[in-house]
Amino acid sequence: MEVIDIIKYDDKKYRTQVIELWKAVFGYKEARNDPGTSIDKKLAVHDDLFYLAGESNRIIGTIMAGYDGHRGWIYSLAVLPEKRKQQVGTILLKYIEEKLKNLGCLKINLQILKSNVAVKEFYEKNGYKVEERISMGKVLEEHSSANYLMEEKGNHRLQ
Ligand SMILES: CC(C)(COP(=O)(O)OP(=O)(O)OC[C@H]1O[C@@H](n2cnc3c(N)ncnc32)[C@H](O)[C@@H]1OP(=O)(O)O)[C@@H](O)C(=O)NCCC(=O)NCCS
Repeated sequence: MEVIDIIKYDDKKYRTQVIELWKAVFGYKEARNDPGTSIDKKLAVHDDLFYLAGESNRIIGTIMAGYDGHRGWIYSLAVLPEKRKQQVGTILLKYIEEKLKNLGCLKINLQILKSNVAVKEFYEKNGYKVEERISMGKVLEEHSSANYLMEEKGNHRLQ
């Protein structure tokens, strides 16, 4: 294996490569998971938690995290198929764990799709445990100020 560099995401330099990598690794069905939208929304929060693995100027892996002051979350960990099982995923994960720790994060959570249960072993090798939880989510509609009117006296009503 050649030398792996961990690189902070730079939109001008890496956008095309990252979008291609995510399309190849994840495939996407829902519009909210569109790679370009995910990148733009991540950059908009300026949290410095989006990193890439580079080998000879080529992007071979990605990882994103989030930290809300309570828990850290791991997202978008992906390694090019031909570069797997060479510790690239582990290097990315350890790097982002260090970043989260430095922010004061005490615990990291992540979700694995049921259809992707094989990846559980990867996380277990990196110290993660399956926790008994029911994972729930809600898709929010696009923000629209027209849906939410503030009344003059400071009360508000939903339309
Ligand atoms: C998960 C993923 C990032 C792992 O990347 P990687 O670079 O191959 O992982 P590593 O080489 O660092 O693997 C570390 C250990 O986990 C094991 N491992 C990695 N992927 C595994 C898998 N799919 N199933 C079982 N074990 C796995 C490795 O064998 C290795 O064990 P070792 O240390 O005893 O050699 C990569 O398989 C991937 O991109 N998968 C598709 C995207 C995905 O599912 N992402 C996670 C979303 S939750």
